[in-house]
Amino acid sequence: MGTGYVGLVTGACLAYLGHRVTCVDRDEERLKGLRSGRMPFYEPGLEDLVARGVGRGRLDFARVEGVAGLVDEADAIFVSVDTPQGEDGSADLSSVAAVARQIGRALAELRTGRGSPLVVVNKSTVPVGSGDYVSMLIRDGIEEAIGEGAGGEGAAGFLVVSNPEFLREGSAVYDSFFPDRIVAGADSREALDVLRTLYEPVIEQSFPTELDPRPKVAVPFITTDLASAEMIKYASNAFLATKISFINEIANICELVGADVSEVATAIGLDARIGSRFLNAGIGWGGSCFPKDIAALRAAAREYDYEAILLDAVAAVNVRQRKQVIAKLQRDLHTLKGKRIALLGLSFKPNTDDLRDAPSLEIASVLDSLGARAVGYDPVAGKAAAQKLPSLKVVFDPYEALGGAHAAVLITEWEEIRTLDLNRASALMDEPKVLVDGRNALDPEAAVEAGLSYRGFGRG
Ligand SMILES: NC(=O)c1ccc[n+]([C@@H]2O[C@H](COP(=O)([O-])OP(=O)(O)OC[C@H]3O[C@@H](n4cnc5c(N)ncnc54)[C@H](O)[C@@H]3O)[C@@H](O)[C@H]2O)c1
Repeated sequence: MGTGYVGLVTGACLAYLGHRVTCVDRDEERLKGLRSGRMPFYEPGLEDLVARGVGRGRLDFARVEGVAGLVDEADAIFVSVDTPQGEDGSADLSSVAAVARQIGRALAELRTGRGSPLVVVNKSTVPVGSGDYVSMLIRDGIEEAIGEGAGGEGAAGFLVVSNPEFLREGSAVYDSFFPDRIVAGADSREALDVLRTLYEPVIEQSFPTELDPRPKVAVPFITTDLASAEMIKYASNAFLATKISFINEIANICELVGADVSEVATAIGLDARIGSRFLNAGIGWGGSCFPKDIAALRAAAREYDYEAILLDAVAAVNVRQRKQVIAKLQRDLHTLKGKRIALLGLSFKPNTDDLRDAPSLEIASVLDSLGARAVGYDPVAGKAAAQKLPSLKVVFDPYEALGGAHAAVLITEWEEIRTLDLNRASALMDEPKVLVDGRNALDPEAAVEAGLSYRGFGRG
């Protein structure tokens, strides 16, 4: 249930592995598109995988109202709906709640009677305790339907498992086939066994695939209790966000003392205890998961009157990084009124069209409020960005964005932006030709040689 980045990818992958999958959503337009082979978002490799599943008769699509008919036969239902940030920072569970009630009603309306309990797999990122909350709502749904006279054979019961998702947008298909681990949390051995069977080909890496020719290594299948599984997801994202905010803090100090954070990050990353990934200084994290998950974890801590001072600081550092883009522009251009600023890359990271909590949108709206004209370019997210932020002028060629720009900001390090022709960029721009490299993705020397005023993050 839910055909977003997680639900659709998971469904298509499970179909590829030989399971029979129905992807369910409440969004009729989305389903219509999927039935005619149109993907609702950009994700490398997904269109082929979906077409393959549909072609083999293993993958189809249904409206949420059709769930009653599916529960008769399904071994498991994956809940993969959105859990956005609520007003107080906590996770908004309304989509999860709606789906849980729907499952309850479907169980009450069962015609055939099931031999075994339905396994409800919670894949959405949800706060600790949500497994029990989902169970309660499923029971509510059953009671509501029975109260309204649903006359099925009666539910054979259900079991809830937490199975947090770790895929990364941009490599979601790959990550689903080759995850670092699969986590399953439940109170019942039976439910964990169903999940293990479903994932068997991934755990054993026994499926035929052209995706990755490297020798196969079995994937750890971690079984635990519900609460720990739910916490594993938050702790993973919190740690990754902490790593980025940490290196950004170091970058800011590097800038003051005249050190180069790129050199520092490379060297500290070689320490196996630290590891080299997620140590790129720049404008910080954004996207569909980190901001809301960190906020939800902080909100959960507040519920217990616990002050999560480290997580609070991780978030505060991130807010400050975005502001630095504007400060760097102001330092060189002074007033931003009437200035044209090219924004290179708009999606929250490369290889996705996702604009949820993308730094580009915040930076563009601050520039607008300061009287500057922001002109954005992105290989796939341009149109959606223009819809979200009408004040942002969007063009479909990076050099068009740079034409007449007094400054450019590299926001998303798409390959084609990392490899821009800097001489051409410089020739097109207007003085003082400032280039703020928000991801430290470009070669500062090459930029200076091209006649640009290069401003990185923490690069001395
Ligand atoms: N996007 C990621 O990279 C990622 C990675 C790991 C975990 N997650 C988590 O997975 C969950 C889903 O994320 P996503 O990015 O796929 O979300 P999404 O917004 O892309 O997709 C959610 C889908 O659920 C559908 N939906 C909502 N309510 C519904 C209902 N009542 N019945 C049927 N369908 C319904 C929506 O129409 C939409 O298609 C979230 O909890 C997220 O935190 C996301």
